[in-house]
Amino acid sequence: MKVTVFGTGYVGLVQGAVLADVGHQVLCVDVDAAKVAALQAGQIPIHEPGLDKLVTSNHANGRLRFTTDAALGVSHSEVIFLAVGTPPDEDGSADLQYVLAVARTIAQHMDGPRIVINKSTVPVGTADKVRAVIAEGLAARGASYGFDVVSNPEFLKEGAAVADCQRPDRIIIGTSNPTSEARLRELYAPFNRNHDKIVVMDVRSAELTKYAANAMLATKISFMNEIANLAERLGANVEAVRRGIGSDPRIGYHFIYPGVGYGGSCFPKDVKALVRTAEEIGFDPLLLNAVEARNAAQRHVLFERISAFYGGQLQGKTVALWGLAFKPNTDDMREAPSRTLLESLWAAGARVQAYDPVAMQEAQRIYGARSDLVLAADPEATLQGADCLAIVTEWQIFRAPDFGQLAQRLRDRMIFDGRNLYDPALVAGYGLGYVSIGRQPVPRSE
Ligand code: UDX
Repeated sequence: MKVTVFGTGYVGLVQGAVLADVGHQVLCVDVDAAKVAALQAGQIPIHEPGLDKLVTSNHANGRLRFTTDAALGVSHSEVIFLAVGTPPDEDGSADLQYVLAVARTIAQHMDGPRIVINKSTVPVGTADKVRAVIAEGLAARGASYGFDVVSNPEFLKEGAAVADCQRPDRIIIGTSNPTSEARLRELYAPFNRNHDKIVVMDVRSAELTKYAANAMLATKISFMNEIANLAERLGANVEAVRRGIGSDPRIGYHFIYPGVGYGGSCFPKDVKALVRTAEEIGFDPLLLNAVEARNAAQRHVLFERISAFYGGQLQGKTVALWGLAFKPNTDDMREAPSRTLLESLWAAGARVQAYDPVAMQEAQRIYGARSDLVLAADPEATLQGADCLAIVTEWQIFRAPDFGQLAQRLRDRMIFDGRNLYDPALVAGYGLGYVSIGRQPVPRSE
């Protein structure tokens, strides 16, 4: 099948490449000429395992092409994906300007029937807005072609986006139009082989499904962070509690890891957007507000522990920091808990020597050169003259450090672990002090 994808960000590029890889003829359109030129030259703008190879091989075989020519994109195919950004507005609601701009472009260049498929995460009711904009655009040109707007949300995890897209656990198709449903079933047939993963529903339910999925996962995390705070104060161990409840299949082991709060491009944005949607229709989203409030507070927990250890006197201290990305296997620092910690440490007068396996360039881009930030060559190099160590991202490389070396090199022999990577008894064995999330702190030996 021929397919057009508007937007070559995370979602569009991964979807386009994966569709091309199973044999579809994919044309990706982006307004950013520099990005399109880079993609044509085989340069992938994001760090995502497996994406490089998928894009370059399918570009080489001609099934994946890139252009800035929107008219060409609209004429290329009957099936058009919208995968452009929906950044949060100042009030937290999703900004639809890019989605609606593509809708206008489609109306302008349509020369026959089209199925417009929305992949971007957009508020409930957006498909209807897109439909209205296209109808208006067609009417303005005096044209009349049949078209449908379908909601087909993505469920990709950063760092596993290619695998998630190739092996989806569900494919949501939001449409009441049998022709659209049939076309999407055909498009997704290569991904729907072992058992039927396609769930067809009305367009508004499909739009809400995406928010409900992310809000549910965010709720699990905030719930567990709340329990962690309780555990700490009650003399309990949240890791034991986690295993204890996770063994109930109705609860499950996934997404109940306590930590420094959820970050990234999806959960913070989507929970806020769903809150806004609720408020707009006069409904008070009590639970979603609490999920968001717990997360906002949780992002400060590690700094509070460090600050308490130093009696609020962080001026002149040097903190080694392991991890910058919002989670492992990505260079993404959007809404990363590391940023809250960095900025709080700086505001308190501390210096930070940080290391992350892939997000160093991103940190450089965000913060530029500053005297209170050193981007170190490896985890060991962050320890040079450091008073303590803070950990915010659970990269594999941080899981089994040389504790003897840490005890020798950290002036105050303290580890503040926002991801519960170590066994407290093991760390204590080296004379180190260890503060983690939802567990009893271990004092350093005298
Ligand atoms: C998420 C959803 O998982 C995905 O389905 C959706 O399409 C987009 O949003 P992503 O943002 O890439 O994906 O990351 P994810 O792995 O879900 O982690 C989100 C955040 O939650 C991270 O900051 C992570 O550290 C945190 N998290 C996750 C926890 O704090 N505890 C957990 O138990 C799980």
